[in-house]
Amino acid sequence: MDPTPMDPTLDALAALRLQIEWGADEALAELPRDRLKAPAPARPRPIPQPAAPQPAPRQPASPPAAARPVPGAAAVPVQRAQAAAAAAHTREELRAALAAFDGCPLAATATKLVFADGNPDAGLMLIGEGPGAEEDRAGLPFVGPSGQLLDRMLASIGLDRTRYLITNLIPWRPPGNRNPTDAEVLTCLPFLLRHIALVRPRRLVLLGKLATQALTGSNAGITRMRGKWLPVTVPGLDQPVPALPMLHPAYLLRNAGAKREAWSDLLLLRRTIDSDVSS
Ligand code: URA
Repeated sequence: MDPTPMDPTLDALAALRLQIEWGADEALAELPRDRLKAPAPARPRPIPQPAAPQPAPRQPASPPAAARPVPGAAAVPVQRAQAAAAAAHTREELRAALAAFDGCPLAATATKLVFADGNPDAGLMLIGEGPGAEEDRAGLPFVGPSGQLLDRMLASIGLDRTRYLITNLIPWRPPGNRNPTDAEVLTCLPFLLRHIALVRPRRLVLLGKLATQALTGSNAGITRMRGKWLPVTVPGLDQPVPALPMLHPAYLLRNAGAKREAWSDLLLLRRTIDSDVSS
């Protein structure tokens, strides 16, 4: 993954710049407070509380997306997608297979196929949800406002987006930026899994709920899944690939309050990359 070694001064400046941009432009205390530190143990409550209702027993996590049964309505396009993806032995063949695939209706309304951008040999692959209007025009992922924020987020931890591979769960823009349907996700997933198998990244970053749910097979929300490395099973790879779910930059553009979690995840990403490099 080989990140640029961080000059501590540049690192601090980039982090400061990002925080100012995110609205943290005022010092509230003389000294910084580490809000990521484990909270102090809660004090005992003075008044006894009535017994809380027992939580419902946890459902076992769904199996990984690759192993999930395919709902009937989407079965034929999904099987065709699996066959087309499996027949690709290089990224170029995979891109051509996607360009020729007519089993996903999104291909008919999109302007361009958005396959990927960046360096496939980097060891780190970032996966978003699907193209927006600007990505659809450019044929490249993450070039609009979310992409610009993603670039700044990566820069704040000393990473240059051009050195890593960036792609999406859905390679065609859903009309009006609506969420893709389950059938569209199931149809596009075999291509993404094949892409991962061909690239063999050491780690994945999953941007947002859709990519996280599709690749982990879990239905949990992104706020529960983010901030920890989770195994993603990829057909054709012997080992699960560790994946870090993060809040999507588009969500961060709308929810300034969530930037603290995003910053914590970025620091985890940087620490992990550094320990990969040194191990
Ligand atoms: N959002 C995404 O998830 N991907 C893009 O490429 C752009 C915006």
